[in-house]
Amino acid sequence: MLEIRNLHVSVGDREILKGLTLTVKDGEVAAIMGPNGTGKSTLSYVIAGREGYEVTQGEVLINGENILDLAPHERAARGLFLAFQYPVEIPGVATMQFLKAMLNAQRRARGEPELQTPDLMKLVREAAAKLGVSQEMLRRPLNSGFSGGEKKRMEILQMALLEPSVGILDETDSGLDIDALRVVSDGVNSLRSPQRSFLVITHYQRLLDYIRPDSVHVMAQGVIQRSGGPELALELEKNGYRDYLAGEAA
Ligand SMILES: Nc1ncnc2c1ncn2[C@@H]1O[C@H](COP(=O)(O)OP(=O)(O)O)[C@@H](O)[C@H]1O
Ligand SMILES: [Mg+2]
Repeated sequence: MLEIRNLHVSVGDREILKGLTLTVKDGEVAAIMGPNGTGKSTLSYVIAGREGYEVTQGEVLINGENILDLAPHERAARGLFLAFQYPVEIPGVATMQFLKAMLNAQRRARGEPELQTPDLMKLVREAAAKLGVSQEMLRRPLNSGFSGGEKKRMEILQMALLEPSVGILDETDSGLDIDALRVVSDGVNSLRSPQRSFLVITHYQRLLDYIRPDSVHVMAQGVIQRSGGPELALELEKNGYRDYLAGEAA
């Protein structure tokens, strides 16, 4: 479960999040929609622990624990996964090596025994087969020469292997084509579980046609302005964000 309580965040002397409150229960898929520049990515960066964002007030709890004082890797060990946290190409590192290092770092942080290579290969191959990641992709250096859709597949594979309790996907800026859109939504749908919460951040209603969120939240001017069911996304598709932008230089 993810709980965001009265979160205020500044960059420099500008306040971007202005008392944002949102709860995503276990098993729930919540979507945040909102106009560009409203602080959606800022929210995901703050939850992930990226530098440069000052939390002046509020809390972010994962399964009841405030994570804001934890380092990013400690947050990951608590079950947080931010999709697109490894979008970089790493030319010298084979994808399989990277996945091994990633999984064993999580296990060490949790005090669990590390996976030996044969077990790891089996685990990765099984998950990869389910998600349409080819053996050939696993042999290549991480993300190098991958298409947009292949990078998405790799990110979803990382998420599947890490089995997060809270998964956050920020799709706003990525210009997803139809193929990548399906990869992301199939991935989220296949990982839905009663113990897992998802927060899907998007500018596009289209993604929500495939993911079908349990709740939809409109973010504007640094707060959640309105919450509802999937029908709210359709209303936004029709009317845009004009009702939520009063007072904001659009
Ligand atoms: N690191 C940063 N430095 C300066 N301004 C930033 C930074 N991150 C975000 N902002 C500003 O905060 C506002 C919200 O940005 P962002 O969170 O990316 O919005 P969204 O994802 O909703 O489009 C924008 O005006 C952006 O310019
Ligand atoms: Mg954004």
